[in-house]
Amino acid sequence: MSIGIFDSGIGGLTVLKQITKTLPEYHYVYLGDNARAPYGDRSSEKVYECTKQGVEFLFTQDCALVILACNTASAVALRRLQQEWLPHAYPDRRILGIIIPTVETIVSLHTKRPKRIGVIGSRATILSNAYGKEIEKRAPALLSALFQKSCPLLVPFIEEGMQKSVPATMIAKHYLRPLKQKQVTLLVLGCTHYPLMKKKIQAIMGRNVIVIDPGIIVARSLKNYLERHERIRERLTMRDPSFTQIKFFTTDIAEKLQSTAARFWGKGVPIEKISLG
Ligand code: DGL
Repeated sequence: MSIGIFDSGIGGLTVLKQITKTLPEYHYVYLGDNARAPYGDRSSEKVYECTKQGVEFLFTQDCALVILACNTASAVALRRLQQEWLPHAYPDRRILGIIIPTVETIVSLHTKRPKRIGVIGSRATILSNAYGKEIEKRAPALLSALFQKSCPLLVPFIEEGMQKSVPATMIAKHYLRPLKQKQVTLLVLGCTHYPLMKKKIQAIMGRNVIVIDPGIIVARSLKNYLERHERIRERLTMRDPSFTQIKFFTTDIAEKLQSTAARFWGKGVPIEKISLG
């Protein structure tokens, strides 16, 4: 069986890249729901339905476990899927998100040396206050040093491969200004698309701000999860780690995934178009 990676579009490729670096010995299936991205401006109900369809497709592709490599889906749909749907629909499969491992890392970094934390994400992620709620459970005192900002216009630029353009830079500066004014010392890229413009964001925030890419954290946390959950690990097919096997699917034209996939895995990666719903 495989590990499924789900995102609203191309952003989850940044997570998949980190996961395959850390765990090259497994099979992966990636699904980007590009036709319905961005999720960040949709209602919770719609994000839930789209995410459920995406996860179900990955289960039909023989995935034992699906990572929601999308902050919006993790913020809005994960808990409901885990509690209301999975136990009766697919009791032997698992769905994991991206926010909890990221928050655990922030809290442990803060414990070592106090931080002022900025989180940027889609409108739905920030409105859900998923980061705030998870931080509150672990370190309520940290809430007074948490500053969140939605950056909805960045995703369409990144989906179009225009993250280095002058307008994208101007928009990023506009969104990040209030966080600079709050003097944040750690910035979480709370949308999986943003690592594709991490250098730009780091340059705007300045060298002294730690910019966190949750993909790296999720990869580490998945490794740890598989070490602790033998029943899931044993169901995963293993292969020669020098050649990671990935199948790519999208709900839109393949070109949208192609250029980002080419950046990580070389040109000509086969991508299949499917329909959901
Ligand atoms: N990549 C997604 C996230 O992490 C979503 C952006 C969107 O579809 O709005 O939130």
